[in-house]
Amino acid sequence: MSFSIKNICCIGAGFVGGPTMALMAEKCRNLIFNVVDINKQRIAEWNNKDFSKLPIYEPGLEEIIKKTRNKNLFFSTEIEDAIRSADLIFISVNTPTKTNGLGAGKSSDLKWVEASARQVAKFAEGHTIVVEKSTLPVRTAEVIESILNSTLSGLNKDKKTFSVLSNPEFLAEGTAIQDLENPDRVLIGGEDKEAMLLLSKIYKNWVPDNKILFTNIWSSELAKLTSNAFLAQRISSINSISAICEVTGADIREVSRAIGLDTRIGSKFLDSGPGFGGSCFKKDILNLVYLAEYFGLEEVAKFWEEVVHINIWNQKRIAKIVVKKLFGTISQKKIIILGFAFKANTNDTRESSAIKICKDLIEEGAELIIHDPKVNPIQIEADLKIKPKPLNNEASKTFLNSNSGSWRFSKDLNIFDGSHAILVLTEWEEYKNIDWNYVAKKMVKPAWLFDTRSVVNVELVKKSGINLWLIGDGGI
Ligand code: NAD
Ligand code: UDX
Repeated sequence: MSFSIKNICCIGAGFVGGPTMALMAEKCRNLIFNVVDINKQRIAEWNNKDFSKLPIYEPGLEEIIKKTRNKNLFFSTEIEDAIRSADLIFISVNTPTKTNGLGAGKSSDLKWVEASARQVAKFAEGHTIVVEKSTLPVRTAEVIESILNSTLSGLNKDKKTFSVLSNPEFLAEGTAIQDLENPDRVLIGGEDKEAMLLLSKIYKNWVPDNKILFTNIWSSELAKLTSNAFLAQRISSINSISAICEVTGADIREVSRAIGLDTRIGSKFLDSGPGFGGSCFKKDILNLVYLAEYFGLEEVAKFWEEVVHINIWNQKRIAKIVVKKLFGTISQKKIIILGFAFKANTNDTRESSAIKICKDLIEEGAELIIHDPKVNPIQIEADLKIKPKPLNNEASKTFLNSNSGSWRFSKDLNIFDGSHAILVLTEWEEYKNIDWNYVAKKMVKPAWLFDTRSVVNVELVKKSGINLWLIGDGGI
């Protein structure tokens, strides 16, 4: 093989691009990794001297960045240069659901992927392997190829060549480093065998051969959407059974354990909760729904769409239960929200169930105090699209007259004074060790604790005198 890979560029320094390239840089010290982004602030944060201020919180990430940054891993906004010098380019940009136009609300918005492909077409030199890392609708590789090939005319024809591969990312946030270090599989889809082998050679630095899977490019794109659809489907399934538990006296934890022991079902992804969040599940299922509709497979589309419907229904029912238990009104009642991230060990709030639930509670007039160990209150404000209640007394009075509820953020857990209810929405470790006896003394009676994540010690809560509502527990 004459062509070899020395220099790698990743377009998109987000939740996937950042950690993925950091881990690769740690494992492949002989290769150079340039991670580029149009977002100047994000790049500045990746380059922050204070490693605790990286734009993404992931356990283990800080240590890897310390070892690799400015050695063989570079973060910059110099996109053209990075493309020019790259032998291989990962496209790892955002692919959210389209908000307007054809396919709005379902299909992926590919404008960032297209912009990246156009930049690659313009600035690449010599032979370049272009790898889809973003999650994309089936046959996007065709679009990328046609954009790249459209530049191959006249003089350019001899100078530039491209090979397009699909290499979807399966990492989950909160465990990204662990998932990247020890993946269940690495999927490489394509037609150019030489390019596929070159990409696999990078992974072989730490991934065993038998975990590297070669497929055709369309199977690789579809396998990624299907994987997320299956995982999300499990959560909607268990949440629907959880609601049945609550009315029949069964306990969802016991049901999960019993069915999970069947090796055909397996025990993972059977935790009932407030509903799945995160940037991927909803978007990828809707993408699949759009694909099915496009090809006239209406029943298939409806089947997958129901997974999203159940999730929305589940998020809605949590706020309703809180109102019902608090005598039908939560107006001006102080409610503590424990956790805003869509899952523990991440600062990501995209599609977090907490957003919908908090909005519903505020609409009902509640005064929320929101705690999360990693989420920034500026992010919460952007998600809720409601300003926090001012600390100043006078301003706060005018705020209250507005008839709707309010929210305020707290960095610490010294927040239970005068509260009517506590709602656990994210399974952060520190919520497991709260002293409920102490908390009970601070709360207005009858006090309520709503645990949507099964994190609290049921016996200790009961002993404290706080009323407990536990997700999927019909026996309480
Ligand atoms: P993200 O929004 O965190 O990051 C994407 C980055 O791309 C942003 O910083 C944005 O500024 C940058 N960008 C967009 N257009 C650009 C351009 N033309 N040039 C340079 N930079 C550009 O998104 P993410 O969570 O990292 O997801 C990226 C892709 O990976 C998506 O397709 C997603 O579905 C997929 N994915 C995400 C996860 C996850 O856990 N977040 C896991 C697997 C796959
Ligand atoms: C998901 C996929 O797991 C990952 O493979 C893909 O690359 C990106 O999308 P992520 O969204 O980061 O990862 O986290 P995940 O652990 O899948 O959790 C998604 C949501 O489901 C979270 O809100 C989580 O709390 C919820 N969940 C997960 C449950 O409610 N119950 C479970 O048993 C598992």
